[in-house]
Amino acid sequence: MSTVRRPDEAGLAAAVALLRDGGLVGLPTETVYGLAAVLAPSAIAGIFALKRRPADNPLIVHVADAASVPVALGRMTPLATRLATVFWPGPLTLVLPAGDAVPRAVTGGLDTVAVRVPDHPVAVTLLRALGEPVAAPSANRSGRPSPTTAQHVADEFGDAVGVVLDGGASVIGLESTVVDARGDEPIVLRAGAITLEQLRAALDTDVVGGQVPTNPDLRASPGTRYRHYAPDCRVVLTGADDLAAVLAELHAADAHVGVVAATSTPVASGVRVVARFDDAGALAQRLYAVLREAESSGLDVLVVETVGEDGIGRAVMDRLRRAAAG
Ligand code: TXA
Ligand code: MG
Repeated sequence: MSTVRRPDEAGLAAAVALLRDGGLVGLPTETVYGLAAVLAPSAIAGIFALKRRPADNPLIVHVADAASVPVALGRMTPLATRLATVFWPGPLTLVLPAGDAVPRAVTGGLDTVAVRVPDHPVAVTLLRALGEPVAAPSANRSGRPSPTTAQHVADEFGDAVGVVLDGGASVIGLESTVVDARGDEPIVLRAGAITLEQLRAALDTDVVGGQVPTNPDLRASPGTRYRHYAPDCRVVLTGADDLAAVLAELHAADAHVGVVAATSTPVASGVRVVARFDDAGALAQRLYAVLREAESSGLDVLVVETVGEDGIGRAVMDRLRRAAAG
């Protein structure tokens, strides 16, 4: 029997019961699907074991609303409160000084905790019904593309996740932006769905002193150190101008090739087009599904056209580079 459940009353009740019992639930969010557990050490251990996640890579805690961040969980700094007012519910994760009630297994041993309010009706309804936060990393094995449908989660983990709530395809398709909000200025630790442009616009730049620094290596989120988002076929990135030449070369080498290109870029007939996209946002929404499709259809190489590194394009290129490095 499939573990994918409709998020009706019975499905939600089954998810709540499983969570209270220390089990794992596949949780839809607007970014990607999460693998949720309550903040109890044994339940958290289940997440790390199933994902084969390094113990020093901390998890994001999900709450129903900003009022559900008690000091025992984390301390909302003035900057955090300001950012939460603008961006919650939504794909912004705030790194805060951790409270005493957070198991250090959740924080990867750090004295900080990452928190966000997901912008998805099923996630929020579940959190309210449960009445406590859940920790939820993306519901993929470490290093693999993140899941953006309930079926992706079921494909990845089978029966090991007793309930996967089906909330439809994730509308954003790419993970939240992780921001260190402990000081006076935000430090972006992981590029994501909330763009630098949005952060700059939301903050009084006179107060933060201009530029929002992005991902300085030493302060990056632990998770960004690892090889990530990679399907088990080769991923090659190329600009629109070189696409034809790259495809011709791979074709000459007899590789089984697929391509993901902008709608406006010509692709030679005979090349398998895996997806077309109109802009970086559209590519973001389909990116992980496309990577999964490339491997399930047995491609040797997936050629992906690059996008500009502004707006959500920054996070798209971050994920694509990691996928290509795998
Ligand atoms: O959109 C998302 O953020 C999704 C959905 C499910 O909410 N979750 C997600 O979780 O992407 P995960 O575990 O795949 O990525 C969490 C990232 C990792 O890079 C981790 O290192 C970082 O957040 N992180 C978590 N806690 C942190 C902390 N205390 N300090 C710095 N980085 C932290
Ligand atoms: Mg992840």
